[in-house]
Amino acid sequence: MNVFPKGFDTNLRLGIAGALVILGAVSGAAAYLLHPQQLDTGYQPRQPVPYSHKLHAGNLGMDCLYCHATVDKSSYAAIPATETCMNCHHRVKDKSPKLQMVRDSYASNQPVPWIKIHRLPDYVYFNHQAHVTAGVSCVSCHGRVDQMVEVMQVNTLNMAWCLDCHRNPAPNVRPAQFVTKLDWQPDIDAAELGRKIIAEKGIHPPEYCSGCHR
Ligand code: HEC
Ligand code: HEC
Ligand code: HEC
Ligand code: HEC
Ligand code: HEC
Repeated sequence: MNVFPKGFDTNLRLGIAGALVILGAVSGAAAYLLHPQQLDTGYQPRQPVPYSHKLHAGNLGMDCLYCHATVDKSSYAAIPATETCMNCHHRVKDKSPKLQMVRDSYASNQPVPWIKIHRLPDYVYFNHQAHVTAGVSCVSCHGRVDQMVEVMQVNTLNMAWCLDCHRNPAPNVRPAQFVTKLDWQPDIDAAELGRKIIAEKGIHPPEYCSGCHR
């Protein structure tokens, strides 16, 4: 004997799904208004070593990949090991007090305690490789790091910011070989070129919840 009307289970499931969406939307709105992440634009902590992107990536013209070597191969953009700095600094400025902590780190095999600047909550899935290989430049998300003496967070990294681009990625998609050339400008309209690349590669950023909340 079936006491429940036909379709009860489906209705129950739909009800739960609906409640979750509403709950999600409400807590999302609350999080949007209350979350300290909202204040993170402009976050620029003092780092333990006065390392300058403006000097190394800007003036010396070093490619981002020299130090952030995993950014096009994995979800995480690695912070360089001390060995990478010592490639040059065991000769260049090898007595500089500004590099004392780097030399100590090299001798002791303990990493430099760099302070992380950009940070998403754990419940958000993000992947550098997917963006970089699609042709989204570092500059779209991190700004002109090559002009920063100390790195500063320039975007909110909140959900609305992610979705703004996912809904209309064309102005931020370029040929993948130029992703680390932060001052690169196309000969034609950026959005027009972006649309061409998007069509060729079949690029389609997720807007559904489980795309970013897995
Ligand atoms: C010589 C090595 C080196 C090069 C080249 C380099 N970086 Fe960095 N980068 C670092 C180090 C060390 C840190 C950690 C200290 C800091 O934040 O300044 C860092 C931090 C960062 C951060 C902040 C990470 C966080 O904590 O959230 C971003 C963003 C970044 N780099 C982007 C870039 C971009 C874009 C380029 C190319 C234009 C670049 N870097 C080139 C060494 C490098
Ligand atoms: C490709 C070579 C190269 C690499 C790799 C490199 N640097 Fe440098 N660095 C330089 C040069 C060149 C200078 C400028 C020297 C000058 O002013 O004459 C410099 C200057 C500096 C200074 C300023 C020193 C002073 O006394 O003014 C610091 C601090 C520094 N680098 C930190 C780092 C750190 C930390 C890393 C690794 C994340 C790193 N560098 C990687 C070449 C390099
Ligand atoms: C689509 C936006 C986007 C692009 C493009 C992008 N980043 Fe990031 N980056 C982020 C976000 C978001 C975080 C924080 C990730 C987290 O906390 O999980 C981050 C973090 C970082 C970090 C800190 C380590 C980490 O992975 O958390 C470094 C270093 C970095 N980015 C460098 C780069 C470089 C270099 C490029 C270009 C080659 C680049 N990023 C391109 C959004 C982006
Ligand atoms: C400036 C544009 C831009 C911004 C900002 C941006 N994205 Fe994306 N995202 C893209 C593009 C382009 C793709 C590539 C889609 C493809 O290849 O089909 C993508 C793909 C993705 C994917 C799918 C990758 C995979 O491995 O399945 C996820 C997840 C994602 N983005 C999360 C985020 C999150 C989270 C944020 C905010 C913290 C963000 N994105 C910000 C443009 C952007
Ligand atoms: C493109 C990536 C992306 C997509 C798609 C996305 N989100 Fe998010 N979501 C984020 C990011 C990033 C945050 C973190 C915001 C912050 O820290 O300010 C977030 C935060 C949230 C939060 C806040 C959690 C809390 O209480 O702190 C909720 C709820 C949420 N998302 C629900 C959803 C729902 C429901 C959907 C589908 C309609 C969705 N998200 C689709 C990226 C995404």
